[in-house]
Formats: sequence, C-alpha cells, structure tokens
Amino acid sequence: MTAVNTDPVAISPSSRVAWERAKRSIGGGVSSGLRGDFQPYPIFVDRAQGPLMWDLDGREFIDYIGAWGPMLLGHSHPDVIAAVAEELPRLQMPGTGHVLEYEAAEAVLGAVPGAEKLLWSNTGTEAVQVALRLARAWSGRNHIVKFTRAYHGWHDSVFASVAEHGEGTRAVAHSKGQNPRVLDDLIVLPFNDTEQAAKTLARAAELDIAAVLIDPILNSGGGVEPDPEFLAVLRQTCTEHGVVLIFDEVVSGFRVARGGAAERWGVTPDLWTLGKALAAGFSQSAVLGRAEIIDQVTVDVYHAGTYNGNPVALAAVKAAMHAYSSPGVYDSLEENAAHLENGVAAAAERTGAPFGVHRVASIMWVYPTRGDDDTADALAIELAARGILLLPRGEMFVSMAHTREVVDRTIVAFEDAFAAVSASNPS
Ligand SMILES: Cc1ncc(COP(=O)(O)O)c(C=O)c1O
Repeated sequence: MTAVNTDPVAISPSSRVAWERAKRSIGGGVSSGLRGDFQPYPIFVDRAQGPLMWDLDGREFIDYIGAWGPMLLGHSHPDVIAAVAEELPRLQMPGTGHVLEYEAAEAVLGAVPGAEKLLWSNTGTEAVQVALRLARAWSGRNHIVKFTRAYHGWHDSVFASVAEHGEGTRAVAHSKGQNPRVLDDLIVLPFNDTEQAAKTLARAAELDIAAVLIDPILNSGGGVEPDPEFLAVLRQTCTEHGVVLIFDEVVSGFRVARGGAAERWGVTPDLWTLGKALAAGFSQSAVLGRAEIIDQVTVDVYHAGTYNGNPVALAAVKAAMHAYSSPGVYDSLEENAAHLENGVAAAAERTGAPFGVHRVASIMWVYPTRGDDDTADALAIELAARGILLLPRGEMFVSMAHTREVVDRTIVAFEDAFAAVSASNPS
C-alpha cells in the first residue's frame, strides 16, 4: 500500500478554501442538491479534458463523476467544442427558427429506433414535465405510475418515494415544501415486479392511470437491470389499457446503447425523455415519441420555454450524435467498463475490503457490503487522496474517453484505497 496523505486539508487545499468561500454566497455552497455530499468536500475544478480534471492547485484527478452523466464522450470532446465554437459567434439565440433545430432533431431521431418526432427543452426535469402533460392529454386521465426509488427530476409532481420505500403504493414526498396534493396523483410500484404492475395496469381505467413513467435502469436506486419480461409486460398492458408508456432515459439514453434502454432491451415506449448525454455537457433535453402524441402541441397541449432549442446546445447535440455513431465506440466503452468492474472487484477481494461492485453498462457502483455511509465516505476520501473522483454513494460514470491505461491506473488506486480502508477498519 502506498502511503498517501488523506488529511482532508491535503487532498485539494484550494478546493477547501473555495468551498468555505462558496458557502458564504451560495445556499448550501453548491448549485445542485447532492453536490454538497462529496467527500471530503467538492473538488473545485479549474479545467478538464477527456477523462481527467484538474483542481485549482493543478492537481490531476481521474473523473468518474462525469458531471452526473452528461460526459459520455469525456470532457471537452474536440468535435463538440469545435461545433459549439463555430456556432457561438454566429448565432446565439434567435427566438424564432434556425436549421440546427431540425438538423439536430433528425440526428437524434436517427439514433433512437421507433421515435418519430421530438420537442426540445433544457433539462431532464422539464422534459419529464412535458412528457407527463402529453400523456395526460393523450389518455384523458390523470394518475401516473412510477417506481420506488426512481428519480425523475425535482418537480413536485414526481419527486416522491425516491429514497424511502414508501407505504404500499402511496407516494412519499422527498422534500419539505412540496405540494402534497399533487402526490395524490402518483401510484408507486416496486421495480421489476411484473405481477403487481400487470394487476395495477389491468385497472388503469378505474384507477385513472394516464402513464407509466420508468427509468429502465433505476439509476437512482443503485442501478437495476430491468427484467425483460417486466418491460415486455409493461409495454403490452399499457397498450391494452390505453396507458402511455414513458421511458425516462435522461441517464440511460445514449449510455446503455446508442438507442438507449429501449434499444438495448428491445421495448419501444410511446414517449422517451432524454437529457444529460444528449448534448454532451450542454443544457438540452428532449421528449421523443410517437408523432400523434407529440403533435398534440399543435392542437391543445402547451409546450414552451425561452431557452428551448438554443443553437449552441443544439450544435453540441448534433456533434454528439455524430460521435456516438462512430464505429466501435460502444464496444470499447463496454470493454473498458467491464475491465474496470473486474479489476475493482478483484482488488476488493484481494484486500478483503468490505465492498461490492455492480455495473449496468457504463455505470458502476462500488458499495459497502458491511458498514454504512461512513464506510463509503472513507473509501471516497482514500480515492480522492489517490486522484480518483466518484459520485457520493459510490456511483461511477465511465466515458468513451476512459482508456485502458486510465482504467488500469484507477484499478491500482482502488486496490490501494481498499487496503487503506481495511487497515483502518479491521473486521
Ligand atoms: C432518470 C432521471 N430523470 C430526470 C432527471 C432530471 O434531469 P435534470 O437534472 O437535467 O433536470 C434525472 C437527473 O439526474 C434523472 O436521473
């Protein structure tokens, strides 16, 4: 085991100073909820390239935060940056029409089999909101089925039963200040429970169910491979009972396959929501789906947003779609992610560290098999001290820029960090 300084002061000294300063002017010190949970503190990043980030002191880190999902191509992919740099001085925001709106739309629809049309918005949260409105208008019903532990954005209507197991099918609000009344319209079911889903959907008309909203890989629940039978039954019962099936592929889109979970598991929803990797690090999301459902916006469903279809973000979307279609990129992503999983699992075994490894495509979780959040935090600190960054609670986004060499360096750091955690917590 290599001795490293895990004193929080030493990991990223300037970040520590910046973190204290940020907390004085920004609520919570961060721009998005969970970023405050990074251990020992959020690293303040000066620049990033490919799989690497450098802090304010110029210290290099291998990055598995991936900006919480978008950086599937790694940081500042040259084609994405070139497209954005070309667009930026030419057209910032016309507020009418521009060709990238349909060129990027055509590229996205070309990547996602079965999707016929789309609407642009800015964030995953917004896209989900639009999808729910389209589904309610289409079905003429009101209730939404979601699954336990699934996160679909922070808006009141579905920010429920994200961490809690809930009581039966009743939604549990995740934040103080949410409107409790809208949660009466949510039905929460267990993920991968085919029988209960089929039973509930058979009563869709009586229960006033408009849509089933599912993140097919249950990313916020630690990542779960969907049972193909479960997805197939959802598809079939939604069709039979007039329910709109929405795949929330804000995380899984382009990541578990170019055509997302729908392609990987061979089930075509009525609507998809996409975000994150869609614009490879720019703010852009979309709702895709059957033309007749999307086209309700031309009749009586309202969809709007000042920043929707921003040319700079759409230049990034178009470049990202091109990069995702390069031959072999998904094969090497899978190879490197599998190599990382095997290497980290073997390191845990060799060192006897109480950690398990779990992976869905290019997303990996390293979780304590004994102990609690403190054990996970201790590992995060040991890893940060060795130049490896992952998400709070051990989630890791592998990108197409993580080479075999970078993955090998990561595995060495994990072995060392595991040994350090084991040494300080002998079982
Ligand atoms: C499955 C899923 N849907 C929606 C969202 C919300 O996306 P955004 O953070 O862009 O609003 C997220 C964010 O993590 C997500 O994981």
